[in-house]
Amino acid sequence: MPTEPTNSLERRRVLSGMRPTGKLHLGNYMGALYNWAQLQHQYECYFFIADWHALTTDYENLSLLKDNIRDVALDFLAGGLDPELSTIFVQSDVKLHAELHVLLSMFTSLSWLERVPSYKDQQEQLREKDLATYGFLGYPLLQSADILIYQPHFVPVGQDQASHVELTREIARRFNQLYPGEFYMAEGAAPWELEAVKTKARKNSGKADKTTFSPHELIAAAPQTKLKSAYGTRTILPEPEVLLTPSPKLPGTDGRKMSKSYGNTLLMSDTEPAIRTKLKTMVTDPARVYRTDPGNPDVCPVFDLHKVFSSPEIQQTAADGCRTAGIGCIECKQWLADSAVTALAPIQERRRHYESNPTLVDEILDQGGRRAWTRADETMRQVSEVMGLRYRSTSL
Ligand code: TRP
Ligand code: SF4
Repeated sequence: MPTEPTNSLERRRVLSGMRPTGKLHLGNYMGALYNWAQLQHQYECYFFIADWHALTTDYENLSLLKDNIRDVALDFLAGGLDPELSTIFVQSDVKLHAELHVLLSMFTSLSWLERVPSYKDQQEQLREKDLATYGFLGYPLLQSADILIYQPHFVPVGQDQASHVELTREIARRFNQLYPGEFYMAEGAAPWELEAVKTKARKNSGKADKTTFSPHELIAAAPQTKLKSAYGTRTILPEPEVLLTPSPKLPGTDGRKMSKSYGNTLLMSDTEPAIRTKLKTMVTDPARVYRTDPGNPDVCPVFDLHKVFSSPEIQQTAADGCRTAGIGCIECKQWLADSAVTALAPIQERRRHYESNPTLVDEILDQGGRRAWTRADETMRQVSEVMGLRYRSTSL
């Protein structure tokens, strides 16, 4: 069935979010923020802090939540999200997400939610927490509401979130099947053509005085001889696509994937001494035991970071020096620290600017919240309409 032709003048929309779990590390930066900052130039972007999602696992421990929300906001801005280009907001400021969540919950079967891999995985990994809750089961559905309420084309996320976007697509499909939007005929169709369709639908129903028709009834009555593109229904919740973010391999100081739970991170906001200290203890090519042993940068986590932060010249010199035992690991790590500190300088400069202007951050988030609300409200009017909730005789 044809869907609404997309308006090419409207920029395509992108939405993504992050749970406020504390100051962001370089894995979060390279894996998400850095890409988001690029997307802002091409798309109409919405980026938000998922504070309700943080509550699904941390409802018992609120001591850090407020600070975490502010820290993530600071890191968003420091990392290059531009409030002039993107709508940056906090989930709980746009309460319409909760409204859509409750409406979607009406037709979401429990088995769909129980099947999402993160549900069981997280329950096993976070055994110390009681996650046998309604809210936690609903985590991916809330995420679906976060997404669908902006009717976005793309959702840039890492592989770990792909199953949540997949569920979102299933939810959208089910919604559109239950509530196909309004019936439309292509521009240029004469008024009598729609009347003819209604007459046929009336005949099909066997009720001579019928005046209102569901989109299903109109579609069934539309002349099959007519080009299919001449009529259809406007899909209210289009299925968004994952935009898998290309992210370089970014190991933490112990050589495993950089992750808060491993305690191996370098933070976007780490000071120069902190970065130098952390890198000093970073693991290297395990085969290079003595200074005189040649090493292999291809298997060294320090070198993975060089690839992200150092210039090609430094990479070349470090790789050659490593292979010939011309340099020691201490020196190699110092070069890396120099590169990382240089790369982070503009980010940290922006962070300081916003940190010293807390009311400016409030204003940015307030304005983002209002903009997001306006866009979300547009969707909710359509959703409420097709779900039979707009009962007023005069429209608001
Ligand atoms: N679940 C995501 C995470 O843990 C955060 C999130 C919530 C999200 N709602 C979203 C991401 C909507 C993308 C789109 O990082
Ligand atoms: Fe790794 Fe550098 Fe040491 Fe080689 S010299 S093993 S690349 S830290």
